[in-house]
Amino acid sequence: MNSDFPGTEQLVLCEDRDAGLRAVIAIDDTTLGPAVGGIRLKAYPSSGAAIEEARRLAAAMTLKNALAELPFGGGKAVILQDGPIRDRTTLMLAFGEFVARLGGTYVPGADMGTTVDDLAIVGQIAPDVACDEEDPAPWTSLGVWSGIRAAVAHVHGSATLAGTTVAIQGTGNVGADLARRVAADGGHVIVADIDEARAARVAAEVGGRVVAADAIASTPADVFAPCAAARVINEATLERLGSPIVAGAANDVLADTALADALHARGVLYVPDFLLNAGGVVHIHALRAGWSRDQLDAAVRRIGDRTAAILAAARSARGTPLAHATGRAQAVLATARSGQRDVAGTARV
Ligand code: NAI
Repeated sequence: MNSDFPGTEQLVLCEDRDAGLRAVIAIDDTTLGPAVGGIRLKAYPSSGAAIEEARRLAAAMTLKNALAELPFGGGKAVILQDGPIRDRTTLMLAFGEFVARLGGTYVPGADMGTTVDDLAIVGQIAPDVACDEEDPAPWTSLGVWSGIRAAVAHVHGSATLAGTTVAIQGTGNVGADLARRVAADGGHVIVADIDEARAARVAAEVGGRVVAADAIASTPADVFAPCAAARVINEATLERLGSPIVAGAANDVLADTALADALHARGVLYVPDFLLNAGGVVHIHALRAGWSRDQLDAAVRRIGDRTAAILAAARSARGTPLAHATGRAQAVLATARSGQRDVAGTARV
């Protein structure tokens, strides 16, 4: 386990052999509320890799929710896809049983490999689920686009993405929508996906071009926007990055947080993933709080303002945006913890 990621509050290993389910639920922190975070469904090389991914992603959810000032803690689940799925409904119902045992401490949403329909099935058993009615991806992409605009403005002073080339890794729910927003803003789009047909469809739609999945990080562009797998910035990709700005939707982009310093030293502006990709959780909160569409839209666009403020603070302190964003999130958590201690103390008197 990477020592950058502190202890997980609760870690649950789940197995239902009849349903063909193996899963991990990581509840990182519930200081601010129930642990909200998506369910990732994919193949893992080992159980240990699945546990590490769940813990890292849950820790990022804690920071994301705190920074976005949402009343949510951080959690994440992964379902290990050991082979072809025999019966998806049975799998999701079995997973729902494990979520139900947690009594609402973990509120699952959609993530890579799971859909609104999957969450609706989990919600038949689990006491509380998110993303069972509406796909949050368009809101995630609106937040990412707002943050990319802020990053480009920070570096070049331009108000729109006109003339800016954005290389998007992954043309799934978020990446495809981001490609449309960049193109509508006057930007040029380059896409890549391991599903080449999907990448080609999105490129054709937005007048962009496709490159091979293993070439997107090194393709010359103004912005590299990872919108697919975790840990795509590592020692190897660092050496051949093609863009001076890294800003995307993918969770847990850095293989190690020390890479933020290495990027900074090379003059690459890395905008933290958990700062940019909060649109989906803001959407979850908006549905629960009964916000209007206008309120939701404004709250998601504020990710751009928050990005601008964090980039400016980091520049004046000569620090990394990651250190600043993490510091702000931790300050929110520390304030909430001290408030809880005060309340507990008062109650004892
Ligand atoms: P998705 O599952 O709809 O799309 C992911 C796409 O990436 C797929 O088309 C897949 O074929 C492609 N892909 C996977 N590995 C790849 C690789 N090595 N190279 C190129 N393409 C690859 O997922 P979605 O919802 O679009 O999410 C994308 C990323 O954004 C994920 O990391 C997710 O955790 C993150 N995110 C998504 C949110 C949402 O609202 N959907 C919210 C916050 C973060």
